[in-house]
Amino acid sequence: MASVKEKLIENVFKEETSAQNKITIVGCGAVGMACAISVLMRGLTDELALIDVMEDKLKGEMMDLQHGSLFFSTPKIVSGKDSRVSVNSKIIIITAGARQQEGESRLNLVQRNVNILKKIIPDIVKTSPDCKLLVVSNPVDILTYITWKMSGLPKNRIIGSGTNLDSARFRFLVGSRLGVNPASCHGWIIGEHGDSSVPVWSGLNIAGVPLKSLHPSLGTDEDKEHWKTVHRQVVERAYME
Ligand SMILES: NC(=O)c1ccc[n+]([C@@H]2O[C@H](COP(=O)([O-])OP(=O)(O)OC[C@H]3O[C@@H](n4cnc5c(N)ncnc54)[C@H](O)[C@@H]3O)[C@@H](O)[C@H]2O)c1
Repeated sequence: MASVKEKLIENVFKEETSAQNKITIVGCGAVGMACAISVLMRGLTDELALIDVMEDKLKGEMMDLQHGSLFFSTPKIVSGKDSRVSVNSKIIIITAGARQQEGESRLNLVQRNVNILKKIIPDIVKTSPDCKLLVVSNPVDILTYITWKMSGLPKNRIIGSGTNLDSARFRFLVGSRLGVNPASCHGWIIGEHGDSSVPVWSGLNIAGVPLKSLHPSLGTDEDKEHWKTVHRQVVERAYME
């Protein structure tokens, strides 16, 4: 006898079961779940896979997202502890790993997080040979390089989040000082994410008006308004990551 589903839906052609635009997130802690929500809210994928070693927590996170499906356009959300759930992903976001403790530098995390990458990268690349890898785990610039080497993929398929967050924080803090929406504050932090990052004072502009043209000592030791502290705040906030 036909099931309710068969009575309700008559397929005129074979149902598509494989995802066309799958995204996997490896590491579903604070950053991984923020990525998951962003991906879902923007409707970027037709299948979201979550991977983490903490299976119980992972299952809870997956169920929370599945139960919110009403608000997303992603029909399939899956999870698991290894690369089997990530098969054929187009983008894989790596946020797995330890974060620094108070007073610990990002560089101290290297060995701990390299060991984690060794467990993850070879398998996920084998099961998703066409993927692009987006690395977020810290120290992000070093781990991006190591991911590239471990993956054997061409370098244009490995992207590190670099100083994107630093620049976003910079624009927010500049905006707060001036009472201007950060979207109108244009500025860049370059170099390595974190302590040694470099603010480009000459490029900082508000809706096209260079701040250096209004305040030539901007960002220097002679600056009476101490704009340098904005960059220091950017670096300090990173320790809350
Ligand atoms: N690049 C940036 O701008 C930026 C910003 C914030 C945080 N981070 C970094 O992102 C990373 C994650 O931060 P968080 O706050 O989400 O940490 P978190 O501790 O909340 O989450 C890390 C997750 O990784 C998981 N994990 C550990 N080993 C794993 C493995 N082998 N396979 C799969 N999952 C594994 C843990 O179970 C945990 O759920 C840290 O390294 C942090 O420093 C980078």
